[in-house]
Amino acid sequence: MKPKVVVVGSSNTDMVVKVPVLPAPGETVLGGTFLRAAGGKGANQAVAAARLGTDVAFVARVGNDSLGDGALRGFVRDGIRTDWIVRDPDTASGVALIVVDGKGENMIAVASGANARLSPLDVDRAGEAFEGASVVLIQLEVPLSAVRRAAELGRRAGARVILNPAPACELDEATLSQVDVLTPNEGETEAIGGIAVYDETSARQAASLLRRKGPTCVMITLGSRGVLVAEADRPVAVIPGIPVKAVDATAAGDAFNGALACALAEGASVTEAARFANRVAALSVTRAGAQPSLPTREEVEGWRIS
Ligand code: RIB
Repeated sequence: MKPKVVVVGSSNTDMVVKVPVLPAPGETVLGGTFLRAAGGKGANQAVAAARLGTDVAFVARVGNDSLGDGALRGFVRDGIRTDWIVRDPDTASGVALIVVDGKGENMIAVASGANARLSPLDVDRAGEAFEGASVVLIQLEVPLSAVRRAAELGRRAGARVILNPAPACELDEATLSQVDVLTPNEGETEAIGGIAVYDETSARQAASLLRRKGPTCVMITLGSRGVLVAEADRPVAVIPGIPVKAVDATAAGDAFNGALACALAEGASVTEAARFANRVAALSVTRAGAQPSLPTREEVEGWRIS
């Protein structure tokens, strides 16, 4: 039987324009190309784990509209269990407007729509999905009340709870104490812990502070510089970044978290799982779009870094 991961989170349709440089406020930039792709941090993480071979259940809310229909068809194609995705009759599906520049950097604005209405009750109704789960994976694009309930149910089921605190918001210690693995990037680390991360020393300090708030393990993703892993009773590990020609960094964090959940569910150690996730994220950066960039297991295993 495949390892079981429950992802609770958002689903969006991404409208992506790729331009040479990101526009400044009030500026119009021409010369772009357009891509419409499936996205949303929760959905991206669910798809990432599923394409790597994990049995995934996704708990979410989408509108009763054509974008919601499209998102659901995509999940089914990727073999994700959709039984606990609520069709919201009153609210549109989530949409993200994304601008990507020539270096692969992005700017994202999200109209949350139905994602903002995911409730603790929706999570409770998915209780059966949590039974026997190895990992519960959550982000912050849905209400904090639903995030907290997912962490509670994950803990109760004996699963490992991974919280990817993106986009960052204030997190209380009661919530953080339900988390096993916290995976902020540099900006999110500063927003949650109050320590700016600009080098390895500051990343170590920030990780140790965040660990004191509850999670047994903190992984700070450092973009092209790799990932710092701080785990209880182990020396801090720094996994170097993999140099790639960046096309689009959208969903690199989601690729990392989906792969991390997959590897932990398969029984890998925390450091092995972070190394695998680092590789999957690097590969995703070489491709355009959120879900279109997420690789299968075969693609990851066959990838030769040039
Ligand atoms: O993490 C990338 C995702 O953030 C995009 O797919 C977009 O939908 C936003 O949610």
